[in-house]
Amino acid sequence: METASAGSARRLEKILARPGEIPPNPPMKTPTAKKPPVLKGTLVTLRPLDPAKDAPGWFEDTIDPDLWKWTDDTQPKTAAETRAQLESWVKNPDLTVWAVIDTASKRMVGTVRVEPRHDDDRVIIADQVNQISRSVWRKGHHKEACQLVFDWAFKDMGAEEIRTKAWAPNDNSWRSMEALGFVKVREGGYMNPGVGVPMPMRHYVLTRKQWMGQKKGSLKR
Ligand SMILES: CC(C)(COP(=O)(O)OP(=O)(O)OC[C@H]1O[C@@H](n2cnc3c(N)ncnc32)[C@H](O)[C@@H]1OP(=O)(O)O)[C@@H](O)C(=O)NCCC(=O)NCCS
Repeated sequence: METASAGSARRLEKILARPGEIPPNPPMKTPTAKKPPVLKGTLVTLRPLDPAKDAPGWFEDTIDPDLWKWTDDTQPKTAAETRAQLESWVKNPDLTVWAVIDTASKRMVGTVRVEPRHDDDRVIIADQVNQISRSVWRKGHHKEACQLVFDWAFKDMGAEEIRTKAWAPNDNSWRSMEALGFVKVREGGYMNPGVGVPMPMRHYVLTRKQWMGQKKGSLKR
């Protein structure tokens, strides 16, 4: 059976043999290279989560139930539960997880979780879930954190697309994804276990080509 990277190399050869067509992806790296790199921006730096150190402050910042309402996670009731939750994310082999650190205050103001995966001979980010402290909503921290992670995914990981989803009433989530260039690919009704009623969920995709092709200046990268 051909390995994913052999398939990728073969596909790359085919593309290189047809000059003038879409430029090849960067070489595929294993999506199981789990340790997240430090990603430095202006407003924020992303660094690997440190559950023991991060849990007490993050528990305080996430007492607000609006940070949990539309996620599939259970809201922790104590700092110890927050630590256990962060540990479970860090130990999950399917996830790459960052803490978002505010440059000015050095405080943790968010988490970003992505799920890199092989999809046949492609690398994709199968899902991403972000939580940002309410004190910095709409102040650019989330936008910049996403830009750093998407650049890493497309340029370093060789991902071809990032998928995400949002419950339709979660305006903050789907609007922020659309602002970053995600395109809605379908909407379906599902039971929302957190809310206890069925509701529409929007599925979004951002391709490498769309990300790399976005007009300079439309997003600060
Ligand atoms: C979803 C979440 C991460 C978005 O973070 P944010 O900092 O509020 O949003 P962003 O700064 O990324 O928004 C980017 C753009 O999206 C659009 N946007 C975002 N929220 C919007 C809203 N409520 N109404 C209109 N436009 C909105 C705007 O164009 C905004 O740019 P602007 O602020 O310069 O006008 C944040 O609200 C959050 O943590 N929510 C709780 C957790 C959650 O639901 N996560 C998603 C799970 S799927």
